Parts: sequence; structure tokens; C-alpha cells
Amino acid sequence: MDGDIELRVDGRRRRLRVDTRTTLLDALRDGVGATAPKKGCDHGQCGACTVLLDGRRVITCLALAVAHDGAEVVTAAGLARGDRLHPVQEAFLERDALQCGFCTPGQVCSAVGVLDEVAAGHPSAVTADLTGPVELTDDEIRERMSGNLCRCGAYVTIVDAVRDGAR
Ligand code: FES
Ligand code: FES
Repeated sequence: MDGDIELRVDGRRRRLRVDTRTTLLDALRDGVGATAPKKGCDHGQCGACTVLLDGRRVITCLALAVAHDGAEVVTAAGLARGDRLHPVQEAFLERDALQCGFCTPGQVCSAVGVLDEVAAGHPSAVTADLTGPVELTDDEIRERMSGNLCRCGAYVTIVDAVRDGAR
């Protein structure tokens, strides 16, 4: 069964018809042509398909497109403001926090989500003090970014980049 949905993707309004079983990832990549989110595992295990959905990071291979009619989607390709990269993107470049780059769009979107979650005071499994503002330690970064795998193993510089992006 098909359904019509409308998404705002990286600032552009897009209407598309999707099968009710279509994932948001397939709707973005095949329906809209937004190829920044990558299909790594298609099983919710790698984080390569992460985008910001209505401001929160979401794994799009586990989301059904029809459930998000009217949503605002920001992919890694939509984070920049014109020629100005998002500070997290700048930090990934400066820290050389990638090798093949396949996981990077998901890493960057996830990192932006992490910084928003920390700023909002959301605790993680490793947050020691639940009474005050969350301190963005390297352990916090590792824990919060643990859903984003990197087959090239660029984890050390990814942590550096997220820390820099927060500044
Ligand atoms: S492709 Fe979605 S988590 Fe791997
Ligand atoms: S840079 Fe290659 S998978 Fe992460």
C-alpha cells in the first residue's frame, strides 16, 4: 500500500509517494536523492544512516517514512550555511577524523545531536553527576557516539573532533 508524504529535507520541501514499508533512509536516498545518509548495515547497528529528524538524531534505516509525514530532516549535506561549514564539520576536517568517509555523514549528524543533548542536560549511561550540567568528557563522547561505527577505526580523532566542535 502506498501513501503520500511531505518532508522538508535540508531546507527543501519534498513530496513523495512511498510504500508503507519504505524506510526513511530509502525514502531519502531513492525518493528524494539525498545521499548523505549512508546505508551501512540497514539493521540499526552502524549509525551510517543518522540524520537530524525534527532536531533529534535518528537512525533512518529503522524509521518508517510514512510515520514522519511533515517532518524536518537535516542530513550532513544540509548542516552548512552556504559556504560556511557547521563547526562540527570544520572540526572533523581539522582533526582529520575520517579515512574512507563512509561513516562520516552519520558521525557528523550524530555529533551535532550529541552536543544538543549535552547542552539540554540529558544524562548518558556514564554521567556521574545527575544534579548539575553535563560535562562533555571524552568518556561522555565515546558513550554517546557508540552507536556510530567506523570500519576505518578513526575513533581517536572523531572524539577529538566532537570535543572541538563543542567549543
Ligand atoms: S544503515 Fe542504519 S544503522 Fe546501519
Ligand atoms: S572513515 Fe571509513 S568507515 Fe569511518
